[in-house]
Amino acid sequence: MRIRTFEEYQTAYQHSVEDPEGFWAEIAQEFKWHKPWKKVLEWNFSTPDIKWFVGGKTNITENALDRHLRELGNHPAIIWEPNDPSEPSVTLTYKMLHDQVCRFANVLKRNGVVKGDRVCIYLPMVPEAAIAILACARIGAVHSVVFGGFSAQSLTDRIIDSNCKVIVTSDGAARGNKNIPMKDTVDDALIACPSVQKVIVLTHTRTPISMIKGRDVWWESEMKQVTSDCRPEVMDSEDPLFILYTSGSTGKPKGVVHTTGGYMVYSAYTFQNVFQYEKDQVFFCTADVGWITGHSYIVYGPLLSGATSLMFEGIPTYPDAGRFWDIVDRHKVDILYTAPTAIRSLMGFGLKYVEGKDLSSLKVLGSVGEPINEEAWNWYNEHIGKGKCPIVDTWWQTETGGILISPIAGVTKTKPTYATLPLPGVQPILVDESGKEIEGNGVSGNLCIKYPWPSIIRTTWGDHERCRQTYFSTYPNLYFTGDGCLRDEDGYYRITGRVDDVLNVSGHRIGTAEVENAINMHADVIESAVVGYPHDIKGQGIYAFVICENTLDDEDLSRRDILATVTRIIGPIAKPDKIQFVRGLPKTRSGKIMRRILRKIAEGDTGNLGDTTTLLDPTVVDDIKAGAM
Ligand code: PRX
Repeated sequence: MRIRTFEEYQTAYQHSVEDPEGFWAEIAQEFKWHKPWKKVLEWNFSTPDIKWFVGGKTNITENALDRHLRELGNHPAIIWEPNDPSEPSVTLTYKMLHDQVCRFANVLKRNGVVKGDRVCIYLPMVPEAAIAILACARIGAVHSVVFGGFSAQSLTDRIIDSNCKVIVTSDGAARGNKNIPMKDTVDDALIACPSVQKVIVLTHTRTPISMIKGRDVWWESEMKQVTSDCRPEVMDSEDPLFILYTSGSTGKPKGVVHTTGGYMVYSAYTFQNVFQYEKDQVFFCTADVGWITGHSYIVYGPLLSGATSLMFEGIPTYPDAGRFWDIVDRHKVDILYTAPTAIRSLMGFGLKYVEGKDLSSLKVLGSVGEPINEEAWNWYNEHIGKGKCPIVDTWWQTETGGILISPIAGVTKTKPTYATLPLPGVQPILVDESGKEIEGNGVSGNLCIKYPWPSIIRTTWGDHERCRQTYFSTYPNLYFTGDGCLRDEDGYYRITGRVDDVLNVSGHRIGTAEVENAINMHADVIESAVVGYPHDIKGQGIYAFVICENTLDDEDLSRRDILATVTRIIGPIAKPDKIQFVRGLPKTRSGKIMRRILRKIAEGDTGNLGDTTTLLDPTVVDDIKAGAM
């Protein structure tokens, strides 16, 4: 499965295009299957209907845990670094992790969970998050992890959409010097969720919480009631493994569904190749398990590969801006995988937090989640990698399950701000607005993929039509990514950002429509329009233009109320950075908001707003320009 040289990459790539089924079958054979597949791939992008390793039976936890026990039983699987650096870190060996996963799987069963049921996981970054995820997979329950920063309302929406039976949470979470009341949020969320029968509560911060008789049980006491003997459920390749909600350009977040066989093969394959992981190395991915990066590269990819995955509870700036480097130093981290927003933020604190930290263990650096600007790339390269660690700028999405375009560390020649080349099995194409392929190099267009890879999205939970419409209908027979992309003279790919109404704020994906809906919930608001603008640290900031019912006595107070409303409806990550009150929005005669104009104003580029004569009331533009922030 391992690519070692650029020639091997080229050979593998060619093989994967000429004979995709043969290529992936060879890789899939390295896993344990209860029953071999009958056919490697069946696909149709128009319905869409995609099946990998058809008829194959396996269990992903057997591959991530049991398979390693003999050789790696006493080898660290997870190293946990707590929020408070004065507290000890925790190491779970593969044997210990296996034991805990089996026990918790039995706890789930004891609480009524059976194969196919959905379990919501709302936990901080603690090993128990990985344990809960794997325990679901052990018994064939479908996990739906919700990022701990989402509000009760967002949690409710996600629980209802997938009809979760059980929720796993903790009393609280520690992030920097904040204590986050997880269980309180769950209690609020559950007022509107009749489907939830049990809440399993982990003791973590020991914050006082309510425990409701008959519904709420403690993780620790449940674990004492069960054995560590839990046979893995035999799963079909195409049985759903998990649901992960993500934002799109319209409506509520959708539940992206990944299935068992293909996701298993692809997350492990990409982990091993992109990062060139070697036995005994420590891999540190700084993402939260609530995002796809955490699923694929904290939990599944590394554990399927017998790797040591470092999991960090806290934030990069606590107790100071040297925390990541301190962790790298103390745990001798070999591979660090983080987001440009973190790099930019730490860069701003200056080099004094890097100096004096021994970063010599580092071999590979990774970047994910948003375009990385050249300055951040160079700083990462020079001051963290000391010019000797390849940087893998990995492009992918919740829907892709794993990395699609990225250098292979030490194999692909890197170039700042470029995700470089597609991994084997990935066939990108650029198209123009009409869907015509843009051939050759030195071109840009909308990024699509023309052939399935094993961990491609299968459906959106409960609404297959939405999946078809969002990803497979814009351009017939292509998967549309929603990203704009440039292919340079060398055939290298550079992702330039979303071409739809999706924002990427600090690597978090947020739909403009979602933020608008939240703002519009505020009693005084008549209408709003949200756009992104370039932000030095976050990549993109959120700029909201808001029309209120009455003239406002105190604009600042109203702004704060709107921020509180957005926090309540979505969560703090969706709070606008700027709110401008306006008397009208630039609309066409058919009532469509011309976002292009708002985007330019938000960017501060008001010199040339293009043609505004088609607007219903062109004078609103002058007013907005005058009040721009
Ligand atoms: O716009 C792209 C951007 O993040 C989007 C996917 O977001 P999400 O599903 O939350 O997954 C993030 C982690 C995989 C993409 O459509 N994106 C992700 N990685 C990169 C990127 N943009 C540029 N360069 C990247 N390396």
